[in-house]
Amino acid sequence: MTFTGTYRTASEQETRSVAAACASHLRRGGVLALFGDLGTGKTQFVKGLCEGFGVAENVASPTFVLLHRYRGRDQHGKELLLYHLDLYRVESGDEILDLGYEEIFFGDGITMVEWADRLGSLLPSRRIDVHLAHGSQENEREIRIDRVVPEVIRETGKP
Ligand SMILES: Nc1ncnc2c1ncn2[C@@H]1O[C@H](COP(=O)(O)OP(=O)(O)O)[C@@H](O)[C@H]1O
Ligand SMILES: [Mg+2]
Repeated sequence: MTFTGTYRTASEQETRSVAAACASHLRRGGVLALFGDLGTGKTQFVKGLCEGFGVAENVASPTFVLLHRYRGRDQHGKELLLYHLDLYRVESGDEILDLGYEEIFFGDGITMVEWADRLGSLLPSRRIDVHLAHGSQENEREIRIDRVVPEVIRETGKP
């Protein structure tokens, strides 16, 4: 079973469930890039994913704080760090580098980035893209999940 594809949800709970189900498909080092307008459910998706990783802390919208860090558990019950970034207000890549870019994007935690388009060239080429959009009904959302693999691997089959 794969978790990539398009989902339609009719409530924030459903969006969280879709996200929680993704958790078991993600490995350490996974980066999720979330795209979508305000109110499409990016933060709800992050909450669901955190639930899936057994995070006990309250997951808030980090709009005024660039980065939140939560403690969850991996498939083996080992502690796992989840990084939650909201780049809505970010103006330069330096702000992201100052947060500890290497550890966040190439460490062994899970990273979830709202407004990931703000990363520009800092967006890792190996990642999961999650595009969220409003549907025709008030509480309807369309969520498209794609796995993005670096060019090199696609061409040679080797990293
Ligand atoms: N199907 C749905 N999925 C996610 N959120 C929904 C859905 N239907 C309604 N909502 C509401 O939309 C809002 C989404 O907020 P949020 O997750 O903070 O969005 P974003 O982080 O993209 O700005 C919440 O108020 C939530 O209750
Ligand atoms: Mg948000």
